[in-house]
Amino acid sequence: MGIHGRSNGHIEGAMPRFKTILVTGGAGYIGSHCVVDLLQSGHEVVAIDNFANVVGDDDGSPALRKVEEITGKKVTFYRADLLDKPQINDLFDKHSVECVVHFAALKAVGESMAQPLLYYQNNVLGMLNLLEVMRSHSCFQLVFSSSCTVYGEPERLPITEEHPTGKITNVYGRTKYFIEEMLKDLSVADERWNIISLRYFNPVGAHPSGLIGEDPTKEFTNLMPFMAQVALGKKPVLTVFGNDYNTPDGTGVRDYIHVMDLASGHVAALNLLSANHVGLKVYNLGTGKGVSVKQLVDVFERVTGTRIPLQYEARRLGDITAMWADASLARTELGWTTTRSVEEMLDVFERVTGTRIPLQYEARRLGDITAMWADASLARAELGWSTTRSVEEMSVLVTQLVSVKQLVDVFERVTGTRIPLQYEARRLGDITAMWADASLARTELGWTTTRSVEEMLDVFERVTGARIPLQYEARRLGDITAMWADASLARIELGWTTTRSVEEMCQ
Ligand SMILES: NC(=O)c1ccc[n+]([C@@H]2O[C@H](COP(=O)([O-])OP(=O)(O)OC[C@H]3O[C@@H](n4cnc5c(N)ncnc54)[C@H](O)[C@@H]3O)[C@@H](O)[C@H]2O)c1
Repeated sequence: MGIHGRSNGHIEGAMPRFKTILVTGGAGYIGSHCVVDLLQSGHEVVAIDNFANVVGDDDGSPALRKVEEITGKKVTFYRADLLDKPQINDLFDKHSVECVVHFAALKAVGESMAQPLLYYQNNVLGMLNLLEVMRSHSCFQLVFSSSCTVYGEPERLPITEEHPTGKITNVYGRTKYFIEEMLKDLSVADERWNIISLRYFNPVGAHPSGLIGEDPTKEFTNLMPFMAQVALGKKPVLTVFGNDYNTPDGTGVRDYIHVMDLASGHVAALNLLSANHVGLKVYNLGTGKGVSVKQLVDVFERVTGTRIPLQYEARRLGDITAMWADASLARTELGWTTTRSVEEMLDVFERVTGTRIPLQYEARRLGDITAMWADASLARAELGWSTTRSVEEMSVLVTQLVSVKQLVDVFERVTGTRIPLQYEARRLGDITAMWADASLARTELGWTTTRSVEEMLDVFERVTGARIPLQYEARRLGDITAMWADASLARIELGWTTTRSVEEMCQ
């Protein structure tokens, strides 16, 4: 019968084409959950981790032993570091790895800002070593853990894979971006590579058994483990950065995805890689729904029966107001979709920790993140500047567009003339539409335009006192539809501004 059915990346009844998968960072949070799904879908897993951010012991990885307990299957584990290239080479000599799922990376945004070289070395050089060893062993199949952080502050929501990348606000995100760029170059240069880069949104939750979860050893600010620590009394309050965002309750909005849904996305990606040569493909893995920090905390309190005291701090520099995925490409091309609710992302904590946990308040611990958020009051006091743009505003600029036809309509109305139009074919090089985002001038210069399109046009009548007979010709080659300057730089840096009105130009 072959393939019996397909749901969320699992091809039931079919043997996976890749037998042995190397999972780097396999003892970590997402890695360990993904190994569960890989084993359950019939793959053999060789996992490595250097225990940079997870507990290890003499027998290997406690998390992966729990994975073996959950699945009843064996994981081959090595304590290994991607920066130790000979060690990775030996591993490939020993196992015929057919595909790599590459999770291993450092991921703490605050730490990455304080120690950029550590991050570039670990994440970028680690990836380079891995790719070179893979190539030398003729292994060209790769699933890479990327992140929605590569998109930076979204220009539009929801975010599709087409959204520009690169305007990133932190070093960690830049390592992901640089690796994606590297993978692009690689897949162009050598078509044997077959790579899927998965841009995760915000993974939370744990395996329903409660046996594995998110348990980092480095100082962290990730919302979920932080919230769990507060519930357990290990931290006194949940620090929320920013409650004055332009979102329904003022807190940042993210696309939280259950880690088991994320895991099944990897199995789906492997299915696609094993059946097709894709070169390099990128997919968003998210639910497509935005949930605010406050909403998430409310659900957590409801499902766990605990109370999470919140402490609001100023927004952190580089933090993003709202971000959620358009995950439709993964749905259509990977046959993958999320199935778990926010409640399911959180209720495992109840089972793991028990309800009504007595809270124990301790002094706040200073972490590297203390130096990470902005006190923007100086900019407010001295520059008169404060952020003003809402998510809604990101998409409303289109309403400020004025078409030629609209302009003619207004002109006819204010001058009482009729302008007969004759449409010709578009001219080569003409630009469809062009208008400024003048919000920087608004926020930083306190400047905004005040005159309407009507005011731009009615001067002609007043100045000339005449109904000017117009004669329309076809557009000329190279004429531009619309063009106007953002002259705010000249204003700020040269102290220059125009002083003459359209009226004065016509007199
Ligand atoms: N958790 C998130 O919110 C999130 C979001 C987007 C992308 N990602 C990416 O997903 C991947 C997994 O993230 P996670 O949340 O499971 O983090 P994690 O820290 O739990 O797992 C990463 C694992 O990699 C290991 N590691 C790091 N450097 C290594 C090296 N040089 N050699 C061997 N092992 C090394 C760490 O010890 C850790 O166990 C990472 O690449 C991360 O950047 C995570």
